[in-house]
Amino acid sequence: MREQQMRYNAGEAAPYGTVRGADGGVAAVIHATGNAAPAPTAGEIVVEARNLSKVYRDFWGRSKKTALKPLDLDIRRGEIFGLLGPNGSGKTTTLKLLLGLIFPTSGEALLFGRPATDVAKNGRLGYLPEESYLYKFLDAEETLDFYGRLFGMPPAERQRRAAALIEMVGLSRDRKRQLREYSKGMTRRIGVAQALINDPELVLLDEPTSGLDPIGTREMKDLIIDLKRRGKTVIMCSHLLADVEDVCDRIAVLHQGELKELGRVDDLLRLTGVTQIKASGLTPGCRDEVRALLERHGAVDIEIGNPRTTLEDLFLDVVRDTEARPGRRARRGADTPSVE
Ligand SMILES: Nc1ncnc2c1ncn2[C@@H]1O[C@H](COP(=O)(O)OP(=O)(O)OP(=O)(O)O)[C@@H](O)[C@H]1O
Ligand SMILES: [Mg+2]
Repeated sequence: MREQQMRYNAGEAAPYGTVRGADGGVAAVIHATGNAAPAPTAGEIVVEARNLSKVYRDFWGRSKKTALKPLDLDIRRGEIFGLLGPNGSGKTTTLKLLLGLIFPTSGEALLFGRPATDVAKNGRLGYLPEESYLYKFLDAEETLDFYGRLFGMPPAERQRRAAALIEMVGLSRDRKRQLREYSKGMTRRIGVAQALINDPELVLLDEPTSGLDPIGTREMKDLIIDLKRRGKTVIMCSHLLADVEDVCDRIAVLHQGELKELGRVDDLLRLTGVTQIKASGLTPGCRDEVRALLERHGAVDIEIGNPRTTLEDLFLDVVRDTEARPGRRARRGADTPSVE
């Protein structure tokens, strides 16, 4: 996965941002935000929540904690849907209700049009739980073989699929090591491979990037985007905003068990009323002319400057650079004062 999943280049612009200009280079590209209408979400509804709620009760059946207030949700085939919210906001509870692992206090969850508690759907699902529950004394190959058996896969297919998944999650070198020796990030990777063993149509991932370093995080996000490319539906939850922003088509924001926001990430983050123009190769004179032109047309709050990359891209850039040229010390003039 390391090589083939890396599709994001350092410095590649994020799809949304503040009003900034750019200089350097030759070609000029002007590109404005806020005009394109988002593609309508079509397709079969694969997950439905209707008035779904959960109150955890104590041993005596007394209400203990309202983890999820009545929730209505439709998730369509091919979407990457993110559940976002602070600790304790009800994300894991929602995933467990959708999976039929716990019973709702009210309402119902439907998967592929069938009640979530119907076990017939399990072959079409993959699940990465928040905490690893894998057997610590098995190695990666044995783990995937074990889960392949549970799904009734023939030996040759189990072997082929296990090898492909181990490669995909970047564990080839560690495939013979027992899971008890795995680091947190490695445990997360084998968990994802396990969730995909049955080539599921719908994958539910609870904090998929937890414990991963920035490279592992980037790879995990690319892997999730790749699942979408292969027609899978993904529901993931996280409290890491950048992870959700980078991969999800739509999000639901939960707070204290209540749905606070629901919509397409593009729509929720778009700054309407602000136009972004990006160009390379502008001379200082041209910049002044552009500013004067904008002012003449009544534009306000004009910002012209160099766009920033993200810390994630910078980190990946440094690591790749170091791997390509071992022994090299500082890069760029990073410690020089930034005076334009
Ligand atoms: N088995 C349980 N019994 C009682 N209360 C529970 C149980 N499981 C979760 N809760 C409570 O329900 C609320 C929601 O928990 P949940 O695990 O769904 O949150 P979360 O959004 O996944 O949080 P995190 O980001 O920390 O994983 C919390 O207040 C939690 O304490
Ligand atoms: Mg959780």
